[in-house]
Amino acid sequence: MLRGKHILLGVTGGIAAYKSCYLVRELRRAGADVKVVMTNSARKFVAPLTFSALSGHEVELDLWTNTQTGTGDIGTRHVGLANWADIIIIAPATATTIARLTHGLADNLLTVTVLAARSPVVLSPAMDADMYLNPVTAQNLATLRERGFFVIPPEEGELASGLVGPGRLPEVEVIVRKLDEILANHHLDLKKKKILITAGPTYEAIDPVRYIGNRSSGKMGFALANAAALRGADVTLVTGPVHLETPRNIKRIDVESAQDMQEAVAKHAKSADVVIMAAAVADFTPAIKAKHKIKKNGSEGMELSLSHTTDILGGLGKHKNGAVLVGFALETQNELKNAKEKLKSKRLDIIALNSLKDEGVAFGADTNVVTLIDKKGKTEKLPKLPKFDVANVILDRVKKLL
Ligand code: CTP
Repeated sequence: MLRGKHILLGVTGGIAAYKSCYLVRELRRAGADVKVVMTNSARKFVAPLTFSALSGHEVELDLWTNTQTGTGDIGTRHVGLANWADIIIIAPATATTIARLTHGLADNLLTVTVLAARSPVVLSPAMDADMYLNPVTAQNLATLRERGFFVIPPEEGELASGLVGPGRLPEVEVIVRKLDEILANHHLDLKKKKILITAGPTYEAIDPVRYIGNRSSGKMGFALANAAALRGADVTLVTGPVHLETPRNIKRIDVESAQDMQEAVAKHAKSADVVIMAAAVADFTPAIKAKHKIKKNGSEGMELSLSHTTDILGGLGKHKNGAVLVGFALETQNELKNAKEKLKSKRLDIIALNSLKDEGVAFGADTNVVTLIDKKGKTEKLPKLPKFDVANVILDRVKKLL
């Protein structure tokens, strides 16, 4: 996968920067074209000349000086570099750079380039064990992962400080293999495809304070959005109330009720090539939403009258416009039969069945066990996988129908 690929290597200021020299050599051996961006601190460890000799390109150092790289002029060089890169790898990634990326601090050529990039970004953190294990760094890395950054965990071993623990930059071969794997999965095969995805629960108001909701975390829908964006799709994500970071390169629309979701979907479905309804849309909504908070006194024995919400996916199926339609079914009994019926009645192309009976299926979990059923009745039970991997399999199946 690396042959002919444009790889932008960001080198930040850590002792492991010397290993990045070998990384450039191995990537070039594999046939990649490598350009290097160094931060000021990185230059304290290795001279730019070393990287320019190894990469065959002048090293990119800062936003304000001109170079003869042909990747753009002062002021737009970061955009030129971001567009040039098929993948960006930051190795070593220091705690500071990780923090900068988490908060969008675009104050050097590397962070400003990453902010402008649409390609996959891979971080290979390397630092002292205590810095790596510090909750701030851990939280920053978790946030970046949720946003779609790839993280190669550091290895355990003896560190420059004398401490023993996690923090060592992995061997160059490990990083090269990981880049190869990421590129193999992200070959922009969904470029220019418009994909509309829904996620999360909906909240149906009883009064201004209370609502009827459900336990959906939104993680499956967000994983789908992230995976699709990384594969080059133009993604719109309509989400109910969730506590999740927005993945990179995604248009996010926040909604609350089933009706809000229906309106947002109706608006964006017209131009979509694919609609994936991963949201757990409420089936019922209070028939009357009280204008003011319902007081306890006087409401003893109160009964809520509920009415059905609009079946969003069913509606799209009824007025099919050529878009590939994918639904989810969460079942607790007669799973296959119920899912097949939903596939047929909603006129879907694919339905992804979740059974709460399967180990690895739980609200809020990072894994999922899914059975995919298509229009022809082909049924495929996937093993327990991270939601991101499940998302990629669903997208593989969708791609065949485009
Ligand atoms: N769905 C929808 N609009 C609704 C309810 C569900 O678009 N008002 C979508 C869901 O996003 C999902 C699929 O329909 O992709 C199946 O949802 P599910 O709740 O399992 O099915 P229902 O048709 O609501 O049937 P039931 O709840 O009776 O199992």
